[in-house]
Amino acid sequence: MWADLRPIGRDKDTGGYRRLAWTGADTDCRAWFRTQAEARGLAYEVDRNGNQWAWLGDPDAGDAVVTGSHLDSVPDGGAFDGPLGVVSSFAALDELRGRGAQPSRPLAIVNFGDEEGARFGLACVGSRLTAGRLSIEAAHALRDAEGLSLAQAMERAGYDPEAIGPDPDRLARIGAFVELHVEQGRALDLSDHAVGIASAIWPHGRWRFDFHGEANHAGTTRIEDRRDPMLTYANTVLAARKKARLAGALATFGKVSVEPNGVNAIPSLVRGWLDSRAADQQTLDLVVAEIEKAAVERGERDGIDVRITRESFTPVIEFEHALRDELARILGEGGGSVPVLGTGAGHDAGILSGAVPTAMLFVRNPTGVSHSPAETASEDDCLAGVTALADVLEGLACR
Ligand code: GLV
Ligand code: MN
Ligand code: MN
Repeated sequence: MWADLRPIGRDKDTGGYRRLAWTGADTDCRAWFRTQAEARGLAYEVDRNGNQWAWLGDPDAGDAVVTGSHLDSVPDGGAFDGPLGVVSSFAALDELRGRGAQPSRPLAIVNFGDEEGARFGLACVGSRLTAGRLSIEAAHALRDAEGLSLAQAMERAGYDPEAIGPDPDRLARIGAFVELHVEQGRALDLSDHAVGIASAIWPHGRWRFDFHGEANHAGTTRIEDRRDPMLTYANTVLAARKKARLAGALATFGKVSVEPNGVNAIPSLVRGWLDSRAADQQTLDLVVAEIEKAAVERGERDGIDVRITRESFTPVIEFEHALRDELARILGEGGGSVPVLGTGAGHDAGILSGAVPTAMLFVRNPTGVSHSPAETASEDDCLAGVTALADVLEGLACR
């Protein structure tokens, strides 16, 4: 499976992946998913939001055990964030069949569309729409950097954007959703475990900061006469780092655009996107409020008009304890303990957890690096993840 996926959307210079939602690379990943489903005799379907499903057993029987993840990536992402969960799902199903396990509940594998939100700015669009956590109007308002709407992008990829919307009937089929994911930190490495179970996802969000100044000549405009939004932006980045560090939170400006983007012109507009996360909502609210205040105060000194828009927000997700405990029991049957860990990364499992019992498995990432071509996991650990997922599916669906 990895050999087929490896070249799709891979940048030949960096080795990173550019599988942004509804692009050609994403389409190729989707074709791969369908091929994997059909090669195993699974019933393949695409839901109204473009999420792909592969079913073993009757979907309408209800109480299904569903596993899966996503295949899209951030710009220049790693090979594992997303695909590890999907590949492991198919491999776990193969393992179950090899064991001769007889599922008494339907099983399904899912690939949720546009998890990373790298193209339209909002993460988990596929699962949000399905769970009714993103309105149809808001989805239609999404635009990529080229001004292309989500609807246009879906249409170009061969999907019907007029069909998108909540899908409660599909969710009602699910009795449990388990997402396996590469760990995006070093907790498993530090505790010397190949596999762990998720406890919670930190609250997190994205804010767009628009710094409006005045375009002017870089070589002739006196320093005193400038209204340079880059200056305010730069100070806001430094303030964000400091406020987050002091509060034990995280704040990142990872995306920026400049107008007119000329070397010899003072910019008229700098637009920066803040991603901020913290272990609890109170801390996150406080940090973001402090960053906003720092931006506005600095803007006043620089003659810059600062406008801030919250583009997305996901509150803290505490995974359901009963399912989590059941996973711990199943994985602990061999006698070993399985660590339970929280994460600052967002996941479709977090979105679904409001609607269905949901759990996550993490596979060790020896460097902790993610959202980078350097993201890695050893083959032994990936195989341990497959065994763990197979054990969980067998424990949940075959007894
Ligand atoms: C998704 O990976 C996110 O946490 O931004
Ligand atoms: Mn990711
Ligand atoms: Mn992911």
